[in-house]
Amino acid sequence: MLQFQEILALQNFLWQKRKADKKIGFVPTMGALHEGHLSLIRLSKQENDVTVCSVFVNPTQFNNAEDLAKYPRTIEKDAQMLESVGCDVLFIPEVATMYPEKTTLQFHFGHLESVMEGKFRKGHFNGVALVVSKLFHIVQPHRAYFGQKDLQQFAIIRILVQDLMFPLELIRCPIVRQANGLAMSSRNQRLNLQEQETASHLYKALLRAKAMLESYSVKQIQKAVKEYLLNIKGITLEYFEIADANTLQIIEDLNSFQGDLALCIAAYVSGVRLIDNLIVENFVKK
Ligand code: PAF
Repeated sequence: MLQFQEILALQNFLWQKRKADKKIGFVPTMGALHEGHLSLIRLSKQENDVTVCSVFVNPTQFNNAEDLAKYPRTIEKDAQMLESVGCDVLFIPEVATMYPEKTTLQFHFGHLESVMEGKFRKGHFNGVALVVSKLFHIVQPHRAYFGQKDLQQFAIIRILVQDLMFPLELIRCPIVRQANGLAMSSRNQRLNLQEQETASHLYKALLRAKAMLESYSVKQIQKAVKEYLLNIKGITLEYFEIADANTLQIIEDLNSFQGDLALCIAAYVSGVRLIDNLIVENFVKK
């Protein structure tokens, strides 16, 4: 696997590949890699000739300095894991390389900024859009792969690609879960085994909510999720919402919705903020 820290060196390499008509797949990450990331790399390898993974803990998407400081950084292990699945290129820029100047550019994503992650992590999506735009310009991939766990992030990146006309195909990949149901996340590394077991109740809450969709209202399902998690020591629920899985518009009345819906949850477990979701395809209340 080749490693690049500098933009120009990476671009020169990728230019050669593009000239030889090779397809480039791209998996942007913030490192602390896990099986979920590896599933994206594997898919990219199947669909492209060259797979590039970036590892960059992007400071502009953290609205909390402590969260940024505590974000796990495991670059040597990450490189080994990427090697083990045959990733071709690792891009690991410094902060000064990605942000040589202070940026003033602001993105606006309408309602997506005032619901769920947008509501609770002010400025987060601006930072994501900024860094993903920079990375897309640098790598110029034919395909880019993102995990479904960050569903709202995916919706924002879809808008970015459409509105700024990035000539690439966006691919949303399914959530990879531990045996206990906990969605794989870099943040799980900050939890011990007992805490990870506690955190798995977020998925169990989503499953309960899914089972209630046919016969209960949104309000009743929200109440049930709240009550279920109140009984689990160590979890503080931040939100549970039912939304359109593509637009992330909040659904208030299940009777008037038809299509793919997403059950979305965010909670703190032992001070670590986790998110998860479950998509129910082609939902229609009978
Ligand atoms: O999902 C992530 O890991 C990050 O938000 C991303 C897309 C790599 C941007 O920093």
